[in-house]
Amino acid sequence: MEPFRIKAVEPIPMRTTEERQRILAEADYNIFRVHSADVTIDLLTDSGTTAMSSKQWAAMFLGDESYAWASSYERFERAVRELTGFPEVIPIHQGRAAERLLFTVLLRPGQITAANGHFDSTRANVEQVDCQAEDLPCPEAAELVSEASFKGNIDLGRLQKLLVGPDGEQVAVVILTVTNNGGGGQPVSLENIQGAREICRRYEIPLLLDASRFAENAYLIITREPGQQNRTPREVARAMFDLVDGCWASLKKDGMSNTGGLIALRDAKTAARCRELLTISEGFPTYGGLAGRDLEALAQGLQEVTDPAYLAHRADTAAWFAGALTKAGLPTLRPAGCHAVYADAGQLLPHIPPENFPGQALVCELYRLAGVRTTEFGTLAFGQDGGQAPNELVRLALPRRVYTRSHLEYVVDAVGDVVGRARELTGFTITGPQPPMRHFTVKLIPLQEGRDSP
Ligand code: F0G
Repeated sequence: MEPFRIKAVEPIPMRTTEERQRILAEADYNIFRVHSADVTIDLLTDSGTTAMSSKQWAAMFLGDESYAWASSYERFERAVRELTGFPEVIPIHQGRAAERLLFTVLLRPGQITAANGHFDSTRANVEQVDCQAEDLPCPEAAELVSEASFKGNIDLGRLQKLLVGPDGEQVAVVILTVTNNGGGGQPVSLENIQGAREICRRYEIPLLLDASRFAENAYLIITREPGQQNRTPREVARAMFDLVDGCWASLKKDGMSNTGGLIALRDAKTAARCRELLTISEGFPTYGGLAGRDLEALAQGLQEVTDPAYLAHRADTAAWFAGALTKAGLPTLRPAGCHAVYADAGQLLPHIPPENFPGQALVCELYRLAGVRTTEFGTLAFGQDGGQAPNELVRLALPRRVYTRSHLEYVVDAVGDVVGRARELTGFTITGPQPPMRHFTVKLIPLQEGRDSP
């Protein structure tokens, strides 16, 4: 059962299928353009959608809104130092702002970042400073249905090869995204972080974590990695941080709050340069674009997120949800992680080719039939400039502490209905301009069955 009880509630919007059909057309079949007032169950993202605890709301009242050196900053700094062990702590308002700062400071044009998987904003910020983001996922990452425990690992052999190869000199940073959101929310093992550590030390390259879901990664290490079963999530998280030179995080995830981010480093010089940029673009270094009350919510959230009962419930919910969806006929990526279940729309809708976005067809039909909002993680999101994503996935993300089991049962029923209609679904084509991170803004139109579908 949920290890919490509910103190504040919000009504859930209900619309008819006919209303949603019209809403979808008005939103140009882009789910990011649909208003939340028209969404019944919102599984678009686990980012910033967390239900905060009574202790977090209480802490927000203590927010010190002083411009410089507010006591709320000191509480935040202490919470991050205790968790990570990094001496240099920089608050910032969200993950991608941390990425922009870090990559501006650490990279020169033409350099390369190597990762188990760059999230879309991470890649965009690497490319923004004219550098190249190289994904080196382990071979198991490509097996959607195998039960391999650590599909989030970086391929250490390929990393080593890249570093001794002709482009080796250009590799400026190695990144481990924990858990790997773009690759199905799969965890990275401590053993893999250790292996990356040794390689990075040999070639004198900094190793950083994108720690946005550090607690979930720590919990999956405890349940899956030999020898880790008797440690607490906090101990394992610390072991992860101890192996790297620094991290950044979107705290809209495992910060258990509605906004926030951080950069935490060992190196004072790099931190000083980040703070210079932060001051120019985001705010004074002790608030980084956040309010004092946000820093209070985060300091408390960083305590709560490593609660073993909370993490066990979260992992169990994802595993149950994935199992129930699979039973309802939806192929899902195995094994389930914590923050989402990823559906394989390519397998469900083999008659829709990648260029017509099978994932988007599933997203739109789930919304049309049941008001469930999910997001495409396939060629629409990751195939900008004519590329094709390795898999046509749809992410059903789980906001933290928001939905109960019966809400998810409603989603499972809806998925059953969509699966029954799978053969009737048609693909989409993009109309109009395609800015970077196009999936947020592009307009789509459905292919007319029998006329322009392939
Ligand atoms: N890194 C990872 C692994 C992420 O998942 C995200 C955001 C970011 C960085 C950027 O952080 O949103 O605070 O600027 N992921 C969200 C998602 C948007 O829906 O998965 P941000």
